[in-house]
Amino acid sequence: MKPYILLAIIIIISLANGASVFKKREPKKKVRYDNYRVFKIKYKSPMQRQSLLDLTKLKQNFSLWHDDGSECNLMVAPSALPLFEERLRLVNATAEMFIANVQDLIDQENEAGTRADATFGWTRYHNLTEIDAWLDTILANHPEVTMGFVLGQSYEGRDIRGLRISYKWGNPGVFIESNIHAREWITSATATWLINELLTSKDESVRELAESHDWYIIPVLNVDGFVYTHETDRLWRKTRQPSLISDCIGVDANRNFDSHWMENGGASSDPCDETYAGPYPLSEPEIKAMSDFISILKHKMNVMLAFHSYSQLLLSPYGHTAEEFPDNYNDLMLVAKAYSDAVNGLPYGTIYKYGSSAGILYPASGATNDWAYNEQDIKISYTIEFRDTGNFGFVLPAAFIKPNAEETLIGIMALLAESKRLGYLEPKYTFDGI
Ligand code: ARG
Ligand code: ZN
Repeated sequence: MKPYILLAIIIIISLANGASVFKKREPKKKVRYDNYRVFKIKYKSPMQRQSLLDLTKLKQNFSLWHDDGSECNLMVAPSALPLFEERLRLVNATAEMFIANVQDLIDQENEAGTRADATFGWTRYHNLTEIDAWLDTILANHPEVTMGFVLGQSYEGRDIRGLRISYKWGNPGVFIESNIHAREWITSATATWLINELLTSKDESVRELAESHDWYIIPVLNVDGFVYTHETDRLWRKTRQPSLISDCIGVDANRNFDSHWMENGGASSDPCDETYAGPYPLSEPEIKAMSDFISILKHKMNVMLAFHSYSQLLLSPYGHTAEEFPDNYNDLMLVAKAYSDAVNGLPYGTIYKYGSSAGILYPASGATNDWAYNEQDIKISYTIEFRDTGNFGFVLPAAFIKPNAEETLIGIMALLAESKRLGYLEPKYTFDGI
């Protein structure tokens, strides 16, 4: 190479590097929720409800945390309190405040175990880098029974990682999806605890559970959103893919599956809404990856569980309509009851309600468990909404990770036992290598 060409290259490279010094870096400022309050509001009529939910069109000021047909939980910015009170008077509803300052909760969420101890545990919430490193350790420590896999890549190019646990050939398959909604941190904390328990517990019933099923677990499906909740906005829900028709970012990944997509008002077509279904089904790379993976392995999957928070509910299909019910609805209710009873039997006495998604919550189309049921023939399929019922909501203090995880383990144990009793855990395939 001619020396002057080399020189030119060096100059160009150093200019390019130097230029970045002057480039305006977007400041990584965290969104703050100082004095944001959260209220429980009981309502009676659909009109009252609509009038309250209309407030959430003012994005900066109101955010809907929960709604079940008789009560909603609404986060209100301090500057919007007068407007909120006026609306309450207008619709003649009363509100009970259960969080006085969301930022305080966010600041204290991890407090108990924050002391920078290097080990992975369940006394505080971990970020994606920590979860990935922990997964590597798990894979290294249990090479005979675990297999890591990559579901695919997220919009921002991150690997969506999964773990398979299989102790023997011919087991029924259980798929667990977790953290499809970015802010629902309790879900990945619970999923990782569960993995650890399945691999290391000495308890006989847990050993039996672990070894007589094949587990496919995705601790964090919405990786981009999850990173965003750690670095920028604790309360982010959607994916991070920009829209072509709006400045608003992200899609509700749990409305993006290709099953009754956008039917019956079960999702929004407005990119700025929290339940935006996306421009078309499977528009989100995370959901496309999930869909492809399950489609290939559906003959191995007997059970689909999608982890969410919060509300303490087991939700079966259908999500797109409350007028019809699936063929095996009675069985689905028996299985859900088994879960709920088992959880309630623990000393915490936590109550889980159950029913169909559209029946006891609200119409929501294009969700994981409905798609798995409708399109992939996975007949035991639930959305599980973890703790709590609205003391802390999405910002559940880390002290509750273990109790919630214990409940999930005992619940799944009962759910699978009842599924088996009802004949749902027979192998769905005759022979193949994997
Ligand atoms: N909180 C969840 C969501 O809004 C619940 C969805 C349940 N509905 C359903 N069709 N699976 O996405
Ligand atoms: Zn959710």
